[in-house]
Amino acid sequence: MESRTRRSFLQRTGAVCGSLALPTLALATQEKAPAKEKDNDQNDKHDEEISPAEDLMREHGVLNRVLLIYDEHLRLLAAKKPFDGSILVSAADVIRRFVEDYHEKLEENFLFPRFRKAGKLVSLVDTLETQHKAGRELTAQIRELAATATLKLVSDADKLGDALRAFLRMYRPHEAREDTVLFPAFRSVVSPHEYAALGDDFEKKEDELFGEDGFFKVVDQVAQLEKKLGIYDLSKFTPK
Ligand SMILES: [Fe+2]
Ligand SMILES: [Fe+2]
Repeated sequence: MESRTRRSFLQRTGAVCGSLALPTLALATQEKAPAKEKDNDQNDKHDEEISPAEDLMREHGVLNRVLLIYDEHLRLLAAKKPFDGSILVSAADVIRRFVEDYHEKLEENFLFPRFRKAGKLVSLVDTLETQHKAGRELTAQIRELAATATLKLVSDADKLGDALRAFLRMYRPHEAREDTVLFPAFRSVVSPHEYAALGDDFEKKEDELFGEDGFFKVVDQVAQLEKKLGIYDLSKFTPK
């Protein structure tokens, strides 16, 4: 609980320092300042009781937003419209760094072994782990193809489209199954004390890798990519 309080304090001060230290993010921070203040107030309240499942699920929210960026690139490919490959490279880097090297490592190191030890959902866990490996291969392909200068060649565009589609097709059911089956069952394979302690461990790991307030920094990075791509404005998705 002590580290939660410390984190709440650092999160509040980090939000201020972050906007001073990162001028490139200043515009976005100012633009949505009222909403962000409200979000931080809510997070301060949730800090007292953030659970491993909530942590993992909001990380899926980041994954989902990158999947929307992948969707948009598929649309551009289908329309044969030229696009700036650097946005896709950056999106794939978020997947590698935040989803594969962090979020999935939490699942592999802290969740999967406990389910296996308890003899629960073992087949599901095996499939999820196999899919993590397949995801890494697809991300390597997506990153390489997005960065290549020969993307104008039809064969490369086809290969990139195939890799993006395969990634989307696997990750939507993957994360939905984790959200609705694996994460809700997690409490049943650990004690309440261990469950609470793991919440702290996850936060410590996040702070180590991404710095204080790291989750919100990654969300901001994804928002910047959405803006460059023209899909940031949520109201654009409301049917007219
Ligand atoms: Fe997973
Ligand atoms: Fe996951």
